[in-house]
Amino acid sequence: MKKIILALATCSVMAMASGTTIDATMKLMQQGMDQINTGFMVNSKEDILQGISTLENSNAIFTTVNVADFIKSNKVAVANNVNKNLAKDLKALKKAMGESKYAEATAQYAKVLNNCVACHTIIRGW
Ligand code: HEC
Repeated sequence: MKKIILALATCSVMAMASGTTIDATMKLMQQGMDQINTGFMVNSKEDILQGISTLENSNAIFTTVNVADFIKSNKVAVANNVNKNLAKDLKALKKAMGESKYAEATAQYAKVLNNCVACHTIIRGW
């Protein structure tokens, strides 16, 4: 447990120092989405659950780093909301998978994707 806390603390310090951590985190997020997508295509619950877990772990970074370090605008509060929504939608996706409600699961997947796009839109003024 102590090691985990130390690792998280180190991550947040690095994130403040450079964009390296955010880039690595986003690569993981992309991997997680790819894995979920593949899971739906090949009917693999395991892939989907693994993808969700990857996303949950990477989303947690936003609770340990200051989003303001990455977002050069007055939209920090909005980004923080997106982060909370992502956590909530991932939970709902996991629940739908647990109940084998696949139509519900794909709808939640779309919500997860929408969170990615929402935050990027803010950051990049898309
Ligand atoms: C709370 C804000 C936020 C959320 C939510 C978010 N991202 Fe990001 N994303 C960023 C930031 C900040 C960057 C780095 C800045 C940039 O590339 O403009 C980034 C960059 C990326 C990149 C690199 C893009 C490039 O052009 O190299 C990928 C890939 C990515 N994100 C994937 C995702 C995926 C997939 C999700 C959803 C599961 C997601 N992100 C959700 C903030 C977010």
